[in-house]
Amino acid sequence: MSKPLIMHMITTAKNLSPFDVNMAYDAGWDKCVPYTSIETKEVEGIVQDAIFSRPPGLNKTGIFVGGRDPHEAIEMLNICKKSQVPPFTISGFADPSGAFTTAAGMIAKVEESLKKHFDKNFKDLSVVVFGGTGPVGCIAAVLAASSGANVKILGRKKEKCDELANYCLEKYLSEGCTLVGASNDDFKNFVSEVDVVLASGAAGIQLVSENDLKEAKKLKVAADVNAVPPSGVSGLDAMQDSKELNGSSSGAVGIGALAIGQVKYQAQSKLLKKMANSEKPVFLDFNDALELAREYVSSK
Ligand SMILES: NC(=O)c1ccc[n+]([C@@H]2O[C@H](COP(=O)([O-])OP(=O)(O)OC[C@H]3O[C@@H](n4cnc5c(N)ncnc54)[C@H](OP(=O)(O)O)[C@@H]3O)[C@@H](O)[C@H]2O)c1
Repeated sequence: MSKPLIMHMITTAKNLSPFDVNMAYDAGWDKCVPYTSIETKEVEGIVQDAIFSRPPGLNKTGIFVGGRDPHEAIEMLNICKKSQVPPFTISGFADPSGAFTTAAGMIAKVEESLKKHFDKNFKDLSVVVFGGTGPVGCIAAVLAASSGANVKILGRKKEKCDELANYCLEKYLSEGCTLVGASNDDFKNFVSEVDVVLASGAAGIQLVSENDLKEAKKLKVAADVNAVPPSGVSGLDAMQDSKELNGSSSGAVGIGALAIGQVKYQAQSKLLKKMANSEKPVFLDFNDALELAREYVSSK
């Protein structure tokens, strides 16, 4: 009898995200088992408990890392990788709060718009990330910076943004990448220089006003992941897909939350299938999410 695909789903939270559970089953995993309120120090034990009970080389066992904190999730994924005892192995995939696949979807959609409407990529563009201290914004900022943009993480408190930008530079980015912090209030001082706005603020909070769009004379693309009205960017509809942004003085295009959500969904599904179908262990993070989001966007 063929052995089932078993996904051990760990989270620091009280509950797993039902979204992630549905996604895993729909991608073909046969059994999904929740482990809740998990601490980082418990991950090695869970991994080693999972690997020794299945035949070496089977590769039909996975760990999904959920939770909310992207840095903790990366640490857990790294522990998962280090806890292998070949030939007893397991695959891992982290997507805390959907942040890795959502950020990847946003970046892939912005790249598509930059290419289509302006024949550009992220290289040397000025990018601001509103809500950049949240899980989605932080990872979107890292992915834009690693693609060559000069990126600012924005939030209500500059010190918090500075601290996070420095942490991400050290932890995830190579030399030569540019990532700094600034406050939402500082935006008016550089709004005229900004090429791309990534809005990833909390649900139902508008962070870019009609007036900001008038002042943003170089703005090319504004993308927003908040699907709860009002949108994070004035005039941007959740369904909008790389179409002219109402109120933009520079002819920018807008990408709304549902257009990004479609790519997020596809990227997460492809990552779960990649884990299920791989003959060797794989460990998938936000860089893999971006690769598969790009693949999906360019296949349409
Ligand atoms: N489209 C999709 O597929 C998808 C998937 C997942 C999530 N989402 C959406 O993506 C967005 C980001 O998610 P997230 O979990 O990263 O967000 P989050 O942590 O809830 O919020 C992001 C940031 O928004 C800022 N913020 C919170 N309350 C605010 C307020 N009252 N006024 C101004 N700023 C405020 C905070 O930054 P500071 O405290 O530093 O100011 C916070 O770090 C959300 O809107 C979420 O619903 C979309």
